[in-house]
Amino acid sequence: MFQLTFDEARQLRERFGTPLMVVSRREIAEKFSILSDYLPGVHIYYAVKANAHPNILEVVKQNTDRFDVCSAREILAVKNVGVDAANMIHTNPIKKPEDIRFAVDQGVNWFVFDNECELEKFRPYGKDINLMLRLSFPNTDCVVNLSYKYGVPAEQAADLVMKATGMGLTVRGLCFHVGSQNLNPYKYTGAIAECKRVFNYLALQGIYLDYLDIGGGFPVEYIESIMPLRNFFTPIQEALDSYFPSTTIIAEPGRFIVGDAANLILTVVGKSKRNNVWWYYVDDGVYGSFSGRLYDHCDYSIITDREGPREQCIIAGPTCDSFDVIYHNSIMPHLEAGDVLIALSMGAYTTCSASHFNGFPPARTIVVD
Ligand SMILES: Cc1ncc(COP(=O)(O)O)c(C=O)c1O
Repeated sequence: MFQLTFDEARQLRERFGTPLMVVSRREIAEKFSILSDYLPGVHIYYAVKANAHPNILEVVKQNTDRFDVCSAREILAVKNVGVDAANMIHTNPIKKPEDIRFAVDQGVNWFVFDNECELEKFRPYGKDINLMLRLSFPNTDCVVNLSYKYGVPAEQAADLVMKATGMGLTVRGLCFHVGSQNLNPYKYTGAIAECKRVFNYLALQGIYLDYLDIGGGFPVEYIESIMPLRNFFTPIQEALDSYFPSTTIIAEPGRFIVGDAANLILTVVGKSKRNNVWWYYVDDGVYGSFSGRLYDHCDYSIITDREGPREQCIIAGPTCDSFDVIYHNSIMPHLEAGDVLIALSMGAYTTCSASHFNGFPPARTIVVD
């Protein structure tokens, strides 16, 4: 995991100010190398939603030219770093017809659907586009369940594929997302086995699928440790080898690529003792990079180099809303205004959901080696 020293953090603060999101190019490259070791042959599409900052897209592009996009802006952002739209897959299952038109005009030709209504929107494009059907696999072992809003149960999949085929559309494969920050590799193996059953059933009807997209969800280490990555990925690769030896396999990780590649440098702006508890006010909060506390249900580790007895404290953001509290119950040595803090593993689902509320702009992002 990427971790700046406090000397480095102070130097960067001197130069760029805070809040400052510092992204490690090396850590992102390392994530791609882990994926190519443990999931060899799987085509990796970076899920842009995790962090669409242009500097990050540039770094990701040095490692893959395949991207998972969900909106017109994401398509343009990825094109801006020189990626051919033919290398993008549009994974948003529900789109406006004009968004599909825009994507197709830009050159995107892979799309996801999970219902009949959506299929109608693809009718004008006939065989010019490739479709994948999203299946749902509800999961309680992940932090963000992504089968609540999207995906059809496996038992309904074949009917929908046959309907699409009957409309003259080309369904190339199945996709699923077992949930983000998923800690259980067997959720993938179960889903892969279910998908095989659907592939087999369709083959008996004369429809041959040749793509399987296993989504994202690979975990990173936040406060709690995760299982060794080899143990996590091995069962997934084994399931792919045994069920899908000759199918093209896609994965769309977001968090795994950027999550622990970024540190957020913060400054303590002020402090106040209220009801006998120290409150520390820092220069980024839940309306900013710590929006992931809400939307991503994530706990980030915030560290200091101060020493001394640790005591219960409250860490709050800079806006004037009482809701803007990062931690109601943190444990820290006594801090002073002007102190530097570092929040770890802040790369995914943080700045991308930050707002400008109360005039505080999202943290600046820089890339270091
Ligand atoms: C369709 C799709 N693909 C990929 C991702 C990326 O997931 P993760 O960041 O957990 O790897 C998401 C996350 O919401 C998603 O919805």
